[in-house]
Amino acid sequence: YKKITTKSLIDMKAHGEKISMLTAYDFTMAKIVDSAGIDVILVGDSASNVMAGHETTLPITLDQMIYHASSVVRGAERALVVVDLPFGSYQSDPKEALRSAIRIMKESGGHAVKLEGGKEIKESIKKILNAGIPVMGHLGLTPQSIYKFGTYTVRAKEEEEALKLIEDAKLLEKLGCFSLVLEKIPAKLAQQIAESISIPVIGIGAGSGVDGQVLVIHDMLGMNNEFSPRFLRRYMNLFEGMTSAISQYVSDVKSTDFPNEKEQY
Ligand code: KIV
Ligand code: NA
Repeated sequence: YKKITTKSLIDMKAHGEKISMLTAYDFTMAKIVDSAGIDVILVGDSASNVMAGHETTLPITLDQMIYHASSVVRGAERALVVVDLPFGSYQSDPKEALRSAIRIMKESGGHAVKLEGGKEIKESIKKILNAGIPVMGHLGLTPQSIYKFGTYTVRAKEEEEALKLIEDAKLLEKLGCFSLVLEKIPAKLAQQIAESISIPVIGIGAGSGVDGQVLVIHDMLGMNNEFSPRFLRRYMNLFEGMTSAISQYVSDVKSTDFPNEKEQY
């Protein structure tokens, strides 16, 4: 695949090729992630946590998401760029949802939007899809509803919630979503859902039986020392690496080791 489209992802699922997805929120990181061969870059509203330092994803605004997304789009050559609609930009009515999605597409140049929820936001998803904007769904632990859940623990462990999840996944497929994120649910349930629908299911904390995986880039690079859920694999310890580089710089400045003869004009 020279350039990833929503169609490529559906083809990948049909051929059994797993889909790789990571978040990015700025130009430089997007460029690195894209060069490394990622299929999908998500401009997640997790920017609210890792970029802005908020405790939840709720405070980030549509304007702030557009700023992050436009930066990412300039850094991505091959990857499909999906942008989260932030909390408050689509829940109140379908027209507002469409207006928000249009702003993202026009002002950031992103390729698709992602919304949290199933049946409750059916009309909004329909409206956005009718305007020709590809939609990725997001079910399971949907962080914009954290105050309803009251906890970040695994969702859909009980049958009632599991059945609703299966129904919502089928609904999203039927509406025409090109893909779906399942966050923090039992692996068995996620696999069952992935096998029962034809659109690719991307998991985070949803096991290996799905069609692709997504992680927050700051988490997988180990920039975040405090966040250690079971589903996270750390590929680096950038927190330590960066801290030691920076403290070396501090001591080089203090000791006048930096700059040396060759590092000046
Ligand atoms: O905002 C985000 O980073 C996400 C992923 C965790 C799926 O929605
Ligand atoms: Na998100």
